[in-house]
Amino acid sequence: MERARVSRRALLYGGAGIAAGATTLAMVRLFGPRARGAAGSALAPPARGAPFCGSAASAAPAAVSPPRAPLHPDALTPFVDALPIPRVLAPAGRRPHPTIAGREISHYRVEMREATIRVHRDVPPTRMWTYEGAMPGPTIEARSGEPISIEWVNALPERHLLPIDHTLHGAGADLADARAVVHVHGARVPPESDGYPEQWIAPGGSIVAQYPNEQDAAMLWYHDHAMGLERLNQYAGLLGSFIVRDAAEDALDLPRGDREIPLVLCDRLFFADGQLHYPVSEDPRAPWVEDVFGDAPLVNGKLRPYVEVQPGAYRLRVVNASNARIYALEMSDGRTIHQIGTDQGLLASPVACDRVTLAPAERADIVVDFSDAAGSALVLRSGAIPLLQFRVARAAAAPRRALPRRLRTIAPLSPEGAVTTRTLTLDAYHDPAHDRMLMLLGGKYWHDPVTERPVLGTIEIWQFVNRTEDTHPIHLHLVRFQILDRQVFDVDEYNTSGKMIPIGDRVRPEPGEAGWKDTVRVEPGMITRIIARFDGYVGRYVWHCHLLEHAANEMMRPFDVVAPA
Ligand code: C2O
Ligand code: CU
Repeated sequence: MERARVSRRALLYGGAGIAAGATTLAMVRLFGPRARGAAGSALAPPARGAPFCGSAASAAPAAVSPPRAPLHPDALTPFVDALPIPRVLAPAGRRPHPTIAGREISHYRVEMREATIRVHRDVPPTRMWTYEGAMPGPTIEARSGEPISIEWVNALPERHLLPIDHTLHGAGADLADARAVVHVHGARVPPESDGYPEQWIAPGGSIVAQYPNEQDAAMLWYHDHAMGLERLNQYAGLLGSFIVRDAAEDALDLPRGDREIPLVLCDRLFFADGQLHYPVSEDPRAPWVEDVFGDAPLVNGKLRPYVEVQPGAYRLRVVNASNARIYALEMSDGRTIHQIGTDQGLLASPVACDRVTLAPAERADIVVDFSDAAGSALVLRSGAIPLLQFRVARAAAAPRRALPRRLRTIAPLSPEGAVTTRTLTLDAYHDPAHDRMLMLLGGKYWHDPVTERPVLGTIEIWQFVNRTEDTHPIHLHLVRFQILDRQVFDVDEYNTSGKMIPIGDRVRPEPGEAGWKDTVRVEPGMITRIIARFDGYVGRYVWHCHLLEHAANEMMRPFDVVAPA
């Protein structure tokens, strides 16, 4: 059963061996079914998961209505819709600068509302929850060092679009259905503007958040973060891009204007009538499922769109906004992808690669050169799954401009400078109360007292010890970090004696991860070490797994940045 589940997952990543590099699959073979749920004698084996990818039969409580027919995206003609480019949001007005007298900042207003979105020419319109009527929402463009403020307005309908699980922490039936709060992923903001999960607003309410933008150029993204609902709210469509620019990046003369294209990737399941299908468990009172994969890959909200390009270099700003899917991006003709940036901005220098791995919430800044491809059609795909077609014009190629060899200086944070190393386990349990999987960070629930309390301005190492069988993308709010290394360890030994016995060498991050990150793939059976300086603000933030189903069921913890004594 467990073995089957693993290979099924690997297949959906787009083929064997590419889930997260060969290491992951090797680990699966090494530790196999023992790894999960074996953390201590009290732990029963994991519950049986929900029907994978939600067959039609699993869609609705059987007694209520007949099953709704699923949409079969692979039966639709691909590449018939043009790739939508989200509009850049215009300010609603000016506001006084928060700290500098006599200066003003741009103020924005973003409304969350239900809208109908056409995902494909041959699919009926889909009801979604959106920012400003679009999925993805409008792109927010900011300049480093120039603060902005945004009023987030909850104008959603009272009833939720998707099935809420009231047994999850913070999702009680006594609360408003359409709770929402916005987090700008990767932004360094004061705690009160960070979108703390419990700071949600109900329909009719609004909240004004301040974004200082005191950080380097990077592609961030904004999405819902409401306690117990974020997986549903994001699946329903509440996500968009937030791009920070700065002078250092401008000076590099990278492809820009219509040669710079944001690509927001997310997968969904649909019913044949065009409506979103969010799979549920067999228990109507506890519909949570442990992960959700769609068979319909959307790029900027369209199912397999096309984009017309000129023979020349394009900068693609890619964010994986999926609930659970990991992408292995490659070009159909095998052409080189030049990765120039990661989550928190540019790498030190471009990395030439055949394939770019992207777990949920990770970003990749890539340059693809179509100079030699005039008149042809190329496809960006994830393993065997086609995502987006590039139609290269039959025009003369502009003179090829080489990418700069140096993009920026990234000073490594030295482990010697760290004041502490925190060991944080990732464990899977069987939750007997609802007969389902439960995953915890450091063996703690969301509501347990705060255990991670870094001092403002200090450097810490966090080592994640993954005793489960899954890759978990772990995200810390507020800070950017560097990946130190990953190392296989003896899971069985750890589970029986508590001794952490590493096997083999510490492996440095892949070249495409060797920059500033805010989300790290924590691989099964491995110790993953990151290093961060807790700069910014004092206050309460969160860290969590960015597989949204996991985060909603306790795989999320608060942390406090505290003032120096
Ligand atoms: Cu992408 Cu806690 O967020
Ligand atoms: Cu997880």
